[in-house]
Amino acid sequence: MNSPNGHQRSCLAIVLAAGEGTRMRSSTPKVLHSIGGKTLIAHVLTAATQAGGAQVAVVVGPGRDDVAAEARKVAPQAQVFEQTERLGTAHAVLAARKALEAGADDVLVMFADTPLVTAETLSQLRGALSGGAAVAVLGFTPKDPTGYGRLVMSGQDLTAIVEEKDATPEQRQIGFCNGGLMALAGKQALAIIDKIGNANAKGEYYLTDAVAIARGMGLKAVAIETGEDDVRGINTKAQLAETEAVLQTRLRNAAMEAGVTLVAPETVFLSSDTKLGRDVTIEPNVVFGPGVTVEEGATIRSFSHLEGAHVGRGARVGPFARLRPGAKLGVDVHIGNFVEVKAATIEDGAKANHLAYIGDARVGAGANIGAGTITCNYDGVDKHKTDIGKGAFIGTNSSLVAPVKIGDGAYIGSGSVITKDVPADALSFERAEQTNKEGWAARFRAAKAARKKKS
Ligand code: UD1
Ligand code: MG
Repeated sequence: MNSPNGHQRSCLAIVLAAGEGTRMRSSTPKVLHSIGGKTLIAHVLTAATQAGGAQVAVVVGPGRDDVAAEARKVAPQAQVFEQTERLGTAHAVLAARKALEAGADDVLVMFADTPLVTAETLSQLRGALSGGAAVAVLGFTPKDPTGYGRLVMSGQDLTAIVEEKDATPEQRQIGFCNGGLMALAGKQALAIIDKIGNANAKGEYYLTDAVAIARGMGLKAVAIETGEDDVRGINTKAQLAETEAVLQTRLRNAAMEAGVTLVAPETVFLSSDTKLGRDVTIEPNVVFGPGVTVEEGATIRSFSHLEGAHVGRGARVGPFARLRPGAKLGVDVHIGNFVEVKAATIEDGAKANHLAYIGDARVGAGANIGAGTITCNYDGVDKHKTDIGKGAFIGTNSSLVAPVKIGDGAYIGSGSVITKDVPADALSFERAEQTNKEGWAARFRAAKAARKKKS
């Protein structure tokens, strides 16, 4: 973001995450709940960083090391501050006083429970600062304004924000509400916030008072209008689900816009980091956990579940397939129904079409894994590797007891339990020799029938 004189404006994002979150009825802190496979606080930090927030301060509740750790994971540069008492949004911002004192051209105050705000919206707020405002807030017109701070406008200027509890009956009629996010000019931010008191209905230090204070200092405040979804805040599990639905719609639309075919978009669940190439087809009822990439032209058939997996160009997965973390499928690989793949590389053109478990393994190019094949990777203590050479043929219902190596082009007879390495191009089978007893079944039935007649 450039200022009118052309210099790059610096930005400090302060993310408030000291919420109580008791209405979630959960032992997990509210901001560590996820939508689109990513925590609420991670969404907010991503947006802040994308909008140019090179400096990040996160304000957490007392002893919330878990929230601090998640913030640092997403934004390693984040400074974490503790708000020891919950005395209001302005008080929370002041917990990050050190970061404010270090200075920035723009200061963004964001709520960690408001995950859908986009980098574009944040950039608009910053734009208002470079346009000369000292305070810029996000305004929206909710269907039901109850509970929100009301924006008191005078023409284009924002004169005050009045919290619901402190509003006069006339002010409560105002439909234009405070979305909660605020941008402040770095030069004046601390001076403004330091003036905020707590003489109001809740006895809290309201950040929203920054508007009237800035006006009193002869500074300009503005409101930027945005959609309700951008400022959707989460307090309950029901709101978490509603927000998830909004995010899913955004993700599905972005995928289709990028050339992905979603046969029934409303039944496909994506993660924020799902990467789908052009001409990928996703059949109905597919779930993408975090960390999945699907290359161009691949098809994911119905009822498949993918997580931490890479699907190569033109590959076919499912129906009813499960790809777990570390599954890497090459070009044109086929993974069929009831096949589970974990921490395994399946090289180009290999096939496992039915009922198999392939874990901690490599399957060479063009190999064929028969129905019911299991890599026995776990001895109860350690995991071991199975290595299957290119062009190998694994007969149905084989157990490959790892660690074990099947050479290139080798052939495993159906029903074998393979515990020793198999050389390239060999046939290996492990089962008792077949015995046929002529007429035995007929004699058996006759004997049974005779006994039944007697009794
Ligand atoms: C706030 C706004 C209100 C706006 C609404 C939008 C204020 C005073 N009011 O009200 O104008 O319409 O958001 O949703 O800002 N927090 C702390 N420490 C505190 C208090 C709050 O970290 O001491 C955090 C909360 O975790 C939350 C955020 O600040 O993420 C907002 O606090 P909350 O109590 O939800 O404010 P609202 O009453 O919703
Ligand atoms: Mg709130």
